[in-house]
Amino acid sequence: MAPNGADGFDPDFEGRVLVVANRLPMSIKPKDDGEFEYSISSGGLVSGLKGLGKVVDFKWFGWPGIDIHRNDKDKVRRHLSDNFNAVPIFLSEDLAQKHYNGFSNSILWPLLHRMPEKAGNDTEWAQAYQEVNEIFADNILPYVEDNDMIWVHDYHLLLLPGILRERLKKKRNLKIGFFLHTPFPTEDYFTILPFREEICKSLLLCDVVGFHTNQYAKDFLDSARKVLPGVSRSPNDLHWEGRKVIVHGFPLGIEGDEWRDMLQEEGAKKELAGLKQQFEGQKILLGVDRLDYIKGIPQKILAFDRLMTDHPEWVGKVVLVQLAIPTRAEVEEYRILRREVEHLVGNVNGKHATFKHTPVHYLYRSVKPELLAALYAASDVCVISSIRDGLNLVSYEYAACQEEKKGILMMSNYVGAIKTLPPSSMVTFNPWDTPRFAESMNVALKMSEEERAERHQGIMKVVDTWTSAKWGKAFLETMLTAEVPKNNEMPDRDPLGHPDEPDAERDNVAMEAEEAKKQHKPI
Ligand code: UDP
Ligand code: G6P
Repeated sequence: MAPNGADGFDPDFEGRVLVVANRLPMSIKPKDDGEFEYSISSGGLVSGLKGLGKVVDFKWFGWPGIDIHRNDKDKVRRHLSDNFNAVPIFLSEDLAQKHYNGFSNSILWPLLHRMPEKAGNDTEWAQAYQEVNEIFADNILPYVEDNDMIWVHDYHLLLLPGILRERLKKKRNLKIGFFLHTPFPTEDYFTILPFREEICKSLLLCDVVGFHTNQYAKDFLDSARKVLPGVSRSPNDLHWEGRKVIVHGFPLGIEGDEWRDMLQEEGAKKELAGLKQQFEGQKILLGVDRLDYIKGIPQKILAFDRLMTDHPEWVGKVVLVQLAIPTRAEVEEYRILRREVEHLVGNVNGKHATFKHTPVHYLYRSVKPELLAALYAASDVCVISSIRDGLNLVSYEYAACQEEKKGILMMSNYVGAIKTLPPSSMVTFNPWDTPRFAESMNVALKMSEEERAERHQGIMKVVDTWTSAKWGKAFLETMLTAEVPKNNEMPDRDPLGHPDEPDAERDNVAMEAEEAKKQHKPI
């Protein structure tokens, strides 16, 4: 039963909420004694959906991430149900590999991020993708009742809403929603996608389709019209074959209180004290990214190298702590990236290290939340250097942990959060322009306390207002009422009532390009 009260979702809602995502909130690893170890999964989707639990009880359907032997399936099923209200959808190793590493992460992921040069190709992947979407539907069907809401998440399951709608025609008042956690590409990239028509049809069989920003929603509206005949649009919805589908930006958020509370706990306090001692007298630039080619980690390391070359006064006085969270390590492009990043770290350290000082601290692992909170709190600047990124929750988490230090958030022009956080509160930059990226690092490191405090306040207004709980509630209410929350309630375009911002990404890039042209610099 849905919790009600101030934060809760509509108390009159009689159905249940079924959340479907490829990734379950926990990852499973076999242990030597035949048992399984359960640990929190990494990434923004899992972090974001945690807040939804404050608003409504929901059942989570997803793939457990490994092939479980048939003798163990019941045990895993029971554990997931009892401890996480989750239902595992088991896939054979071969099928999961073709669906997850293959079609999802080697075709969809690069194309959604407008990087066709990173895409792979294998004729069996498309079939596996379709099959896995069908298997998800098979497993979900027995749970669905009249009045339920099914909320499907992310690019691994783009065909699922359409399959469910077809197979659940007899259910009364069934709502289906879809949220994409990545960017949606412009029409010219979308039309490269295999299954582009099927994807559009599937999403048009939803009641609500959500994206992190209104720009992505607009790009979807344009693509759907291009790909399918007979689609018409009004500002926030699409009309197709007698159906109305609401299409809108619903930027995800975080629960800032949880991060602040964590910093009060002994574990985080101890970690923070250790970090303060280790880096005493030095400024810390922080990077927290899955080791993904969208995150611009090489660009960040090159800019840091340039900072120390152009500003030798910083040598010995500043470190870059780069946390590279392992992800999709079986995909070739990710292996290539790991080699590239580790090579660059070696170069920069070789060039600027002294016997007393190592400039880049690189950790290839995921860390416990208390260490992450301490790292956020200890740093002077957080550098988000993605060359394309759906939203980026790390930027929000960093700000939430900076009550004391009021550190600076450096934000690449190519990240969804540049549309949701006030641009004047961040130091924005073009990650491709190494000299000016390095100069922005210098500016951020030298910023006065007063200016830092003012900027921090600007960011926190959005972070603490538009939380992940609010995001979930707004999406579900839109499904229920077919009414989009008023634009100014959401922090995209018109965050909290300040004047409409221009299209930050395109304008900044255009301005950079103009200026670079004048100075004959590459961009
Ligand atoms: N994160 C994690 N494990 C870690 C470090 C970070 O799961 O060791 C989390 C981090 O707290 C954040 C998420 O990973 O919530 C990253 O989300 P973001 O939106 O920034 O990027 P994504 O990884 O989804 O592309
Ligand atoms: C992004 C995707 C999520 C994914 C996460 C981690 O946030 O949008 O769907 O879960 O990255 O990636 P992984 O492949 O480890 O699940």
